[in-house]
Amino acid sequence: VNGVLEIPVVFNVLYRTTAENISLAQLQSQIDVLNKDFNAQNSDYNTANNPYSSVRANVGIRFVLDQVIRKSTTKTSWGTNDAMKKSTQGGLNPTSPTTKLNLWVCTIGGGILGYAQFPGGSSATDGVVIDSKYLGTTGTATYPFNLGRTATHEVGHWMNLRHIWGDATCGSDLVSDTPVHNTANYGVPAVGHRSTCSGTPLEMYMNYMDYTDDRGMYMFSNGQKSRMLAIFAVGGSRASFR
Ligand code: ARG
Ligand code: ZN
Ligand code: CA
Repeated sequence: VNGVLEIPVVFNVLYRTTAENISLAQLQSQIDVLNKDFNAQNSDYNTANNPYSSVRANVGIRFVLDQVIRKSTTKTSWGTNDAMKKSTQGGLNPTSPTTKLNLWVCTIGGGILGYAQFPGGSSATDGVVIDSKYLGTTGTATYPFNLGRTATHEVGHWMNLRHIWGDATCGSDLVSDTPVHNTANYGVPAVGHRSTCSGTPLEMYMNYMDYTDDRGMYMFSNGQKSRMLAIFAVGGSRASFR
């Protein structure tokens, strides 16, 4: 990586209603959140009583708004089968997916806030999808998911991070400095909340890879940072972004 890794972002906005055709200001507010969250510049980074402050990471990846592509549609919801990524199904094909992060903005439905493709998949469907009601911090962004953390979480997946509970009871996220969690946390857990898994550690519910509300999550760990940067290194599955 020559200096700081900079990721160009292409927004693919699919809208039926005028509300779904979200403003450039709302899209830019999401870029701003990603830049704060991935550079330890988020205002809640120094939240008091964080038992994991010593493993907080400045990931050091920048995001740049590259282009916005908009398309009107008659679909009321898109689901999670990647139709929004295919022009043959009324969606938008990704633009330069091996060098740019494609982010689809549409109504997903089914209570899904967003979803992402892990590294190593087909470039034709690579990127992340965020429901327009949970993107950025202004316009149609809806509480308690109105601080742009859905994209922070999904971009974490796109950079190879697993859920902090490892998608299993007391499962593993393949990161050594994050504690074992029973399962996903919702809302904003109380300070001191512990896992009942082996060792009963304090849970890292303030991690972006939990399911906490946006205002309750504010950090990646150093181990997660290493895992993310590894895919952009020479020989890594996203080395084409360097
Ligand atoms: N994939 C998760 C979902 O759709 C996203 C969770 C994001 N969490 C958040 N606080 N924004 O439910
Ligand atoms: Zn997730
Ligand atoms: Ca762990």
